Amino acid sequence: MKVLVIGSGGREHAICWKLAQSPSVEKVMCLPGNPGISLEEKCECLNERIDYKTKTDRNRVVEIALNDGIDLTIVGPEEPLVHGIVDDFRQKGLRIIGPEKAAARLEGSKDYAKTFMAKYGVRTSFSQTVNHYEEACKSIEQLSQFPIVIKADGLAAGKGVYICSSKGEAKEAVDELMNKGKFGESGKRVLIEEFLEGEEVSVLALTDSKVIVPLLSSKDHKRLLEGDKGPNTGGMGVVAPNPVMTDEIYNDFVSAILNPTLKGIKASGFDYRGIVFFGLMVKDKRCYLLEYNVRMGDPETEAILPLMASDLAELFLHTEQSKLDETRLKWHPGFCVNLILASEGYPNAYKKGKVITGCDRSIVQDESKVFFAGVGLNDKSELINTGGRVLSVSSTGDDLESDLV
Ligand code: AMP
Ligand code: GLY
Repeated sequence: MKVLVIGSGGREHAICWKLAQSPSVEKVMCLPGNPGISLEEKCECLNERIDYKTKTDRNRVVEIALNDGIDLTIVGPEEPLVHGIVDDFRQKGLRIIGPEKAAARLEGSKDYAKTFMAKYGVRTSFSQTVNHYEEACKSIEQLSQFPIVIKADGLAAGKGVYICSSKGEAKEAVDELMNKGKFGESGKRVLIEEFLEGEEVSVLALTDSKVIVPLLSSKDHKRLLEGDKGPNTGGMGVVAPNPVMTDEIYNDFVSAILNPTLKGIKASGFDYRGIVFFGLMVKDKRCYLLEYNVRMGDPETEAILPLMASDLAELFLHTEQSKLDETRLKWHPGFCVNLILASEGYPNAYKKGKVITGCDRSIVQDESKVFFAGVGLNDKSELINTGGRVLSVSSTGDDLESDLV
C-alpha cells in the first residue's frame, strides 16, 4: 500500500516513521514533509506548497493522490480539514483519514464546539460567545471572578487563547482580537470563558462514527521554560501516558466526555472517520473538555506513537473502512517522554538558517528517536533550522524517572 501524509512537522515525521514500519506499507509520501522525514526508510517528500483555502490547490492534492496511486491519505494539520479536503477526496472515491468539513467545525469554531457540547451533554466550562466589541466589554464589566479566558472563535495556530487576570487585560485581549484583527476573521467572534484550575490531559481517539477508541493519554507542557515557567508555546514536550489519568479519572472521562461526544457525532449524522483530540482539564477529579481538535496533537503524537505496538496503517485502514469495532489496540508498557529543541528566541523572533550538525540516520539509538519539525536545507545541502520548534527527541523507558536521567 502507498500512503500520503499531509504536513511538515514533528507530528508528521512520527506518523510517517510509524507507517513505514507496517509490512503492508511499501511507500510513504509526505506533502511537503521536511528533509528529516526524507531520511526515513520508504519515505519520500513532495516539495510543493499548497494553499488549502483554495479549491484549485486542494484539487492539486487530489490529483497527486490519483496520479501516484495513493491508497490512503492521512492529514496532519487542521487547516486542510477545516477547508474540506476530506470531502474533496471522498468525492473522487479516495481514502482519507479525517472528519468531513461539517464535522471539522468542532475545531474550526470554538462557538460551534461549545454548542455541540451543550447539546449532547459533554462536560465543559461555562462560556459566552460575543459578536461585537461593545457586547464583550459589557459582559466583562459584569464579571467579578478572575482570571477569565478570552478565546478567538476560529483557528489561530494555537495562539488565540488569553488568560486574563483583570477586566483591563480582558478588554485588551478583546480589543486585539475584535478591533485590531490580530487573527483576522478568526477573532471577529470571541468566547468569554470560565477559567478552570487543574491538570491538563490530552486524549487522542480514533472514530469511524460508529465507535470511538481512545489512544494512550498524554500531557503536553506548554510553557517555554523548566518548571512550568515562561510564555506559552505550541508545546515544549510531552509525557505519555499522563500520570494524572488514573482509572477513576478515565472512567469519568468516558462517561462525561467520550460517550456523549460519540452520541453527538452519530446524532449529527457526520461522516467522521478520523481522529478526535480531547483537550481536557481535570479539576477535583472531574474532567472538563476545554477543546476538540480534529487531528492528532503536536507534540502528543511524537510521544504516543513510540509506545504503540499496533500496526498504525492497519488501524487507519480500519478507521476508514468503519471496522474499528474489530480492532484491538496494543501498547508497549512503560512511558515515553518527548522533549523539543527550539530555535533561540522562540516563541518570539528567532534567527533561521543555522546549521544543525550531528543529525543523520545514525542518531536513531537505543530507545530514543529524533523527529524533525522546523528544518530545511541550505544551498550546500546542510540541515538548517527554518522554524521555531526544530526537532524533538522521544525516549521510552519503564518509568518516568529513568527517562529523565
Ligand atoms: P485551547 O486552545 O482551547 O486548548 O486552549 C489552549 C490552552 O489554554 C489550554 O491548553 C489551557 O492551557 C488553556 N486554557 C484554555 N481554556 C482554559 C480554561 N477554560 N481554563 C483554564 N485554562 C484554559
Ligand atoms: N499540542 C496541542 C495541539 O496539538 O493542539
